[in-house]
Amino acid sequence: ATTLGAAAAQSGRNFGTAVAAQKLGDSTYVNILNTEFNSVTAENEMKWDATEPNRGQFNYTSGDRILNHALNNGKQVRGHALLWHQQQPRWAQGLSGSDLRQAAINHVTQVATHYRGKIHSWDVVNEAFADGGSGGRRDSNLQRTGNDWIEAAFRAARAADPNAKLCYNDYNTDGINAKSTGIYNMVRDFKARGVPIDCVGIQSHLSNNAPSDYQANLQRFADLGVDVQITELDISGSNQANAFGAVTRACMAVARCTGITVWGIRDTDSWRTGENPLLFTGSGAKKPAYNQVLDAL
Ligand code: XIL
Repeated sequence: ATTLGAAAAQSGRNFGTAVAAQKLGDSTYVNILNTEFNSVTAENEMKWDATEPNRGQFNYTSGDRILNHALNNGKQVRGHALLWHQQQPRWAQGLSGSDLRQAAINHVTQVATHYRGKIHSWDVVNEAFADGGSGGRRDSNLQRTGNDWIEAAFRAARAADPNAKLCYNDYNTDGINAKSTGIYNMVRDFKARGVPIDCVGIQSHLSNNAPSDYQANLQRFADLGVDVQITELDISGSNQANAFGAVTRACMAVARCTGITVWGIRDTDSWRTGENPLLFTGSGAKKPAYNQVLDAL
């Protein structure tokens, strides 16, 4: 196969990218998107601040643009993200306790219902674990509503869209470390208690290298009975091309690693300004990292 999406599809996987709605008029961008990728994630347009700017008042204009572009071109959509401590609307930032819990669960229900039947996988909860050695939850307004907020969100998402795969998504979880082990223990507990969860997203915002136990970490999650998805891959540094190859080979070696998404198309599209962490140059040319990925798929 000669494109990332077609090569990934040969083993039943997908290869996606984050997409920004305001770039869907850029022909270089759209040509690469349409040619190379068979999965799409909205970079910002399905987040809480974008979809519920006022309490109970929903705006799906930009999210729908991305969704329709993807579905009309035969691509899957990853939904990102129903609940997160960042990019919350101002009104939600000011809530707490049972009022915030109710608003958050209503948000999950409303957005998942709007997109019901159209989303391949939802990042139901994003970045809820703390960095560092605690292995515990991050402090946030959502966490302060009670430790069960994550399972409540997953149950609400399942009820609203029973066919979407429901994922927990986070960063600095690339190797076996305290943070990824905290998530591992949560997923194991959810599986034991019947809390609905289908996948774990490993964002994979990397510099130079994937950790040497990257594949082992993917495998231990898969062994819990969930899919693993690489959800926001970008890699800075001089070893970039090799590292992209290594990440791709690690996913290919894990049967339940079902897809890879890069967090943008061209270096100029990246949120990591000046780091050039993506597969295409600013002018849309394939980089060495692109060839390493295609060879590994
Ligand atoms: C980033 C977007 O790329 C930026 O455009 C935005 O300003 C901030 O968010 N982890 C995530 C993504 O889960 O949603 C973030 O996306 C990058 C880090």
